[in-house]
Amino acid sequence: MTEDTLPPLRTLLKAFPGMSVDEARTLTRSGVVKSYPAGTMLCTEDRFESVFYIILIGGVQVTKKVNAAGSEVRHLKSLRSGDFFGEMALIQEAPRAATVTTDQPTSVLEIHKEDFDELLSVSPSLSRALMQEVINRLRANDAMAIEDLRIKAGELAVAYQRLAEQEYARSEFLTTIAHELRTPLSAASGFLHLVQLRMGRGAAFDGTELEQALQTATSNIEQIITLVNDILFVQEMDLILPHYEPVDLNAVITAVVAGSKSRRYENPVAVQVFVPSEPLMISGDMNSLQRAIGAILDNAIKFSHPGGLVEIRLERIDDKIRLRICDQGVGISDDILPHIFDRFFHVDRVGSRLFRGVGLGLSISRQVIEQHHGQIRVNSRLGEGTVVEVEFFSQG
Ligand code: CMP
Repeated sequence: MTEDTLPPLRTLLKAFPGMSVDEARTLTRSGVVKSYPAGTMLCTEDRFESVFYIILIGGVQVTKKVNAAGSEVRHLKSLRSGDFFGEMALIQEAPRAATVTTDQPTSVLEIHKEDFDELLSVSPSLSRALMQEVINRLRANDAMAIEDLRIKAGELAVAYQRLAEQEYARSEFLTTIAHELRTPLSAASGFLHLVQLRMGRGAAFDGTELEQALQTATSNIEQIITLVNDILFVQEMDLILPHYEPVDLNAVITAVVAGSKSRRYENPVAVQVFVPSEPLMISGDMNSLQRAIGAILDNAIKFSHPGGLVEIRLERIDDKIRLRICDQGVGISDDILPHIFDRFFHVDRVGSRLFRGVGLGLSISRQVIEQHHGQIRVNSRLGEGTVVEVEFFSQG
């Protein structure tokens, strides 16, 4: 093997087209060949270092910090045999512009700053190649910076849009709450005033009238309490972790159905419950589960037609427990279905029927069910009814 077919010389002649064999020889003599295992950091960004490298065998990765802390890093380039690096800091007498790390066992020709400077003054082809590459790298950096800025601007626009949507939802929420509170509050206070007025005039209600007035006031106040409880529960859910213990879903259903019976709905419906005799245990938080399943049942009843039927079925399927709550009510249209779990989303009108609500029920249900590693699915047909299916992992 002659000297000019030796690996360093051959690589140099390929790496710097136009370089004479003499220039390549001088370059080789100015440097030392060194080998490094994969993962060796040869240049460290921001450090003052004084070695120029030409890759003979192997390869390196060039990376740059995106933020000052260095927690986010941008990959700039992979360099292979015949490529060089470390020239920028030397030419500019500045710290390293990037970090360079071997990604495989790599041999390099290392040239120290003094020899590098001397080589530049005697080798026009090396100077030209370096100049061209530095320009390319600076251009590439510019292009990447502009692209990064474009991406960041896009992300900012999306974040801004999301904030604006949240702000809109929040103000909608406040308006809805104010309305929802005002209606039952006005009704309750109206009835109580009337009772007071009649008593003052010595024309008090008789027993049945009084009972009816008080019942209306009570039911309106109950509505307010439910609303306030839901709002508090949503706030709590974001702050407090649930308390898990073995819970029998049969007991949850019993409590939920009993709760729905004690509530007065505008449209009475029949509720049929099918549960197995064995306990169906999951690991859960009784209070949140009652609320989550209660909200599903509440919707099923609320959106049923008067005299309709709501069916609750609980069963074990392999290692899962499945709950289905079916109604034959007004149903949900396809365009609305994807939004029904959104916080504050509520359907207030279907045809001529008006419905109350602030849109917290199902969002609470989904959050609680997902906290329990369960799943909730909804199938619905407008005008035919809705099936809500919930699945939990059974515990034993
Ligand atoms: P230097 O700044 O001395 O040390 C890190 C080296 O990474 C740098 O010189 C270049 O040789 C090399 N590098 C390769 N591509 C780039 C790039 N796009 N930007 C900055 N440095 C790069």
